[in-house]
Amino acid sequence: MGTPSDMKLIDENGRRLDGRGDEELRPIRITTDVLQRADGSVLMEWGGNKIMVAVYGPREAYPKHTQDIEKAVIKARYNMAAFSVDERKRPGPDRRSTEISKVISEALSAAVMVEKFPRTQIDVFIEVLQADAGTRIASLTAASVAIAAAGIPMRDMVVGCAVGKVEGRIVLDLSKDEDNFGQADVPMAVLSKGKEVVLLQMDGDLTMEEFDMATSMVLNASERIAEIQRNALVEKYKGENYPEIEGSEE
Ligand code: CDP
Repeated sequence: MGTPSDMKLIDENGRRLDGRGDEELRPIRITTDVLQRADGSVLMEWGGNKIMVAVYGPREAYPKHTQDIEKAVIKARYNMAAFSVDERKRPGPDRRSTEISKVISEALSAAVMVEKFPRTQIDVFIEVLQADAGTRIASLTAASVAIAAAGIPMRDMVVGCAVGKVEGRIVLDLSKDEDNFGQADVPMAVLSKGKEVVLLQMDGDLTMEEFDMATSMVLNASERIAEIQRNALVEKYKGENYPEIEGSEE
């Protein structure tokens, strides 16, 4: 990855192309219950990304040979719409979407109480409607909320963010140009309470010091993003009526 000589990613005031500081996130909005037929659904808007997630299950795993007698299998399918990127994307699965589906499925399996639902599958359909860098992390962060919104028991939420290196600086939540022309791109996701790492990929190069700085920036950001996840779920349940619990009145 090299920066074309005419492309300045950091201006003379130290600001990024879209005016952000090094540790500033793009605006994130999570809306639940956007689809009627799904058990849980989310619309994730993260900067210019727009991603729809629909969760179904747990339901009997099919075909039968995919069943695990000890736990539910999470089948995430990440798909990019043909119109989601500048240059029309050829519809259908490709190597990139297969890889992203796999890493998202694995990360979610660490958070969901899969052992409670043997022989079942949990389907997580991810449709990227508009892509603007960081879609795998935005999808995973959204999928975690959609699973919670489906009422599926979880031990923790998955929350992530990309971090990278641009003109020698470590910056959070890369934009499209920073992703394309920067020196490193590191998508990372953690379990929000336990702070276990459940997804970590990297291209480009970082020194060990830079890598430490990058990971601590993601950990800090994950607290901010986890709060947006929690607020989305609180918003979902706020309007619903629950039966009075005897003795609960003051
Ligand atoms: O989206 P993410 O950063 O997780 O994955 P990536 O493979 O690093 O892709 C970075 C960005 O490149 C995507 O978010 C899209 O905006 C763009 N892209 C594209 O324009 N056309 C593709 N076929 C794939 C990605």
